[in-house]
Amino acid sequence: MVVCSGAAAKVRKKKGECVTRRLPVGVGVSTACETRGARKSCGLRAKRCDSRLGRKGGSGKRVAPCKMSAFVCSPLTSECATNHAAVSMRPRARGALAQQKDVKVNMTLSEPKAGQSYWKLSDDEKRSWMQFQRRGEQVFNAKYKAFDEDDNSEYALTDIVYRAEKGGLLEVQHDMEALASRSPEEWKELFDRRSARTVWPYGSGVWSKKEWVLPSIPDDDVVSMFEGNSNLFWAERFGRELGMSDLWVKQCGNSHTGSFKDLGMTALVSQVNHMRRNGANISAVGCASTGDTSAALAAYCAAAGIPSVVFLPADKISTAQLVQPISNGSIVISMDTDFDGCMKLIQEVVNDYPVYLANSMNSLRLEGQKTVALEISQQFDWEVPDWVVIPGGNLGNVYALYKGFQMMKDLGLTDRLPRLCVAQAHNANPLYRAYKNGYDTYAPVQAERTLASAIQIGDPVSIKRAIRALKASNGVVEEATEDELMDAAARADRTGMFNCPHTGVALAALVKLRENGTIRPTDRTVVVSTAHGLKFTDSKVAYHERKLHNCSSKYANDVIRIPASADRIIDALRTRISL
Ligand SMILES: Cc1ncc(COP(=O)(O)O)c(C=O)c1O
Repeated sequence: MVVCSGAAAKVRKKKGECVTRRLPVGVGVSTACETRGARKSCGLRAKRCDSRLGRKGGSGKRVAPCKMSAFVCSPLTSECATNHAAVSMRPRARGALAQQKDVKVNMTLSEPKAGQSYWKLSDDEKRSWMQFQRRGEQVFNAKYKAFDEDDNSEYALTDIVYRAEKGGLLEVQHDMEALASRSPEEWKELFDRRSARTVWPYGSGVWSKKEWVLPSIPDDDVVSMFEGNSNLFWAERFGRELGMSDLWVKQCGNSHTGSFKDLGMTALVSQVNHMRRNGANISAVGCASTGDTSAALAAYCAAAGIPSVVFLPADKISTAQLVQPISNGSIVISMDTDFDGCMKLIQEVVNDYPVYLANSMNSLRLEGQKTVALEISQQFDWEVPDWVVIPGGNLGNVYALYKGFQMMKDLGLTDRLPRLCVAQAHNANPLYRAYKNGYDTYAPVQAERTLASAIQIGDPVSIKRAIRALKASNGVVEEATEDELMDAAARADRTGMFNCPHTGVALAALVKLRENGTIRPTDRTVVVSTAHGLKFTDSKVAYHERKLHNCSSKYANDVIRIPASADRIIDALRTRISL
């Protein structure tokens, strides 16, 4: 049995029909959706649709298709019900509590018992379980809202929009009332039950938290590689070297394309896939990239059969990064400029042509990336670490992490935020400079060449987001020179890791914060490793061959080249170990 919730349930009772199949006219749901010919209807701009439906929806008459939005909506899908239920059928002031109660009752009705495995359920129980998941598409919802407090603009997630009305950034806002209808314990139990299993798409580290990410996307439209669920490496030996007892490295680079970008890209490409399937005019998805975003975009688009376009700064990304979008069939455009130059150009293109922007300026990405915060806490049995240290470039990821931690706190899963540290390369350190003057002034810089090439960004799009995250979490900013970042990566490698230079920046920051006492010996600290070291072998090999300028290669491990002879081998071994 399909159980509809909230106002949708009323629809069902009244007309004996399910809202996800066909909506009766004039019951307050978007009748435009119901009008079969209205494929280009449903102006899902939250406020506009709201007033439209408020005015005409209850009249019992068909409402002409709304032409206010670029988005094209498919009728008779749960999407219409979801968005309009979310936007229009939930009068904010009226009956919020009653609604919560409805939701609560409905959500628990068919939920499988704790610890039950999907594969061991009877067919009836399986159906009930899938219905439970799908019901989330109707009950929970999210929209864009302006990041800046003096801007009240709001948009539906199906709108093609990257900036708020006054030109500032957007962010995804969830219906926290609806999410609060489940208790913290219920959420934890649900997330624990789904993660790392095979039920589509809930086994993914991102989609196991679907209701908190993009709740309205039908499961079939999700584009996932079962990303996330990356291991938390207990850096016991490295920690001991630094006088720390509780040091961990979240290995986000152990992922399909080798970086944390997969977490955000699954969310963004799923949304695009959903919109295209419903007729949206999107010819391709495009991004400017320092290498990892383009790799993730190319892979997820290839999996979905969506064209992708990537703008890359020539000779500023690693070979491994370059070959990824080439292999995945992306349109690869390499230009004699830096990342900031590529970013400006992609914005020009997406403004004028039906190319959808995939950079983290697009807040959909951050919804996926924020699940790292949930995952870290989940891996500590829902406890929050004292510190999280991450390398920052365009600065979307620090805000994503903050958002994840804040959301858990707001919904009662945890009781505090960790302190955040953003680590920047000295050669591209605009946030560090702003931090040093108390955020009084901020000025973009001309980023100099750094071996942490993915964070060679002088004018970060998410600067305001980062500052908000740092202020809210009592955070700090550190920087690392080329010598420091390569040494830190190599030193930690000797304890079993294989770090990329960006993780090296974070590790160098950790060393400094430990040395100056900011991080205490027993503080539980998580360093976010953002990419796999194998994507950056050129610089790592050069380090060990002592070929890097500005680097002392203090932890270089020289390869011993000798003639093929047993005696020479023993002599060589004796230089390193006692035999
Ligand atoms: C490996 C790696 N680390 C860190 C970052 C920085 O993330 P953000 O730009 O969100 O600050 C990036 C982004 O390009 C990256 O690719």
